[in-house]
Amino acid sequence: MNSFMSWVGGKKALREDVLIRFPLYYERYIEVFGGGGWVLFHKPPGNDFEVYNDFNSLLVNLYRCVREKPVELIEALRYTLNAREDFDYIKAALARDSPASDVQRAAWFYQIIRQSYASGLTSFASQPHDMWGNFPLIEQANRRLAKVVVENQDFERLIRHYDRPESFFYCDPPYHDTEGYYQNIGEDGFTEKDHLRLRDTLLSIDGKFLLSYNDDPIVRKLYDAPGIYIESVTRLNNIRQRYDPNCQFAEVLISNYDTSERERAMPAQITLF
Ligand SMILES: C[S@@+](CC[C@H](N)C(=O)[O-])C[C@H]1O[C@@H](n2cnc3c(N)ncnc32)[C@H](O)[C@@H]1O
Repeated sequence: MNSFMSWVGGKKALREDVLIRFPLYYERYIEVFGGGGWVLFHKPPGNDFEVYNDFNSLLVNLYRCVREKPVELIEALRYTLNAREDFDYIKAALARDSPASDVQRAAWFYQIIRQSYASGLTSFASQPHDMWGNFPLIEQANRRLAKVVVENQDFERLIRHYDRPESFFYCDPPYHDTEGYYQNIGEDGFTEKDHLRLRDTLLSIDGKFLLSYNDDPIVRKLYDAPGIYIESVTRLNNIRQRYDPNCQFAEVLISNYDTSERERAMPAQITLF
């Protein structure tokens, strides 16, 4: 299924490449940099324990309201206006930490995601948008998230907390050199130190990890370590689609296990997903 929203760096185009590389066996699935959750929503629910996490508290509040209060959230979105004045007012209210309810803040944040240019949260898109068309997506997401644990932690704390030999972490951090896209409402930015901290954390875990990054020499160097696999993949470049429809974006998938095991086990295992 699809996510209920688009998100900067969302893995809509890469989700199948990621899913096919999941380990054959794990008991805990932890999506560390959740964002729009495109991989989580694409992954069929199973008997595994699932965790969605993001450091952006406005985003996590939205996920919690989708899971716990979908009817109230839809009500709060029912009479929103697709207007620049509303957009600017709401953006300012979210930025100043106003005393609005959790549902109101979730509705405002969803409106900003849906009505901003390229979902970048900054400028009003000036595009026709049918808010009511999102309501079935919110209802589907509510059902999918029913048993998902939703966390609002920094990645290192989260990974250490959930790490076990049977844990599987999918990590989709802000890409190297594009971190500025996330210095926005609800975001603190991701620094060079954070990329190093992520590497040090992942290289010391007992569980398995799969990490998606842009194909960047610094990233390749960071993960050039024994027992670490680096694969090249490409996907359509979303940002340049309008000007160059076939433009590809080079990415890498980095893991601490052999990601071909699921594909090799097919078709016998495919039904397990
Ligand atoms: C590339 S996006 C994830 C996109 C997601 N995979 C999707 O399909 O929509 C990276 C996410 O990391 C989150 N993030 C940034 N710093 C973080 C941190 N220190 N710990 C956890 N999440 C963080 C951002 O808020 C952002 O949502």
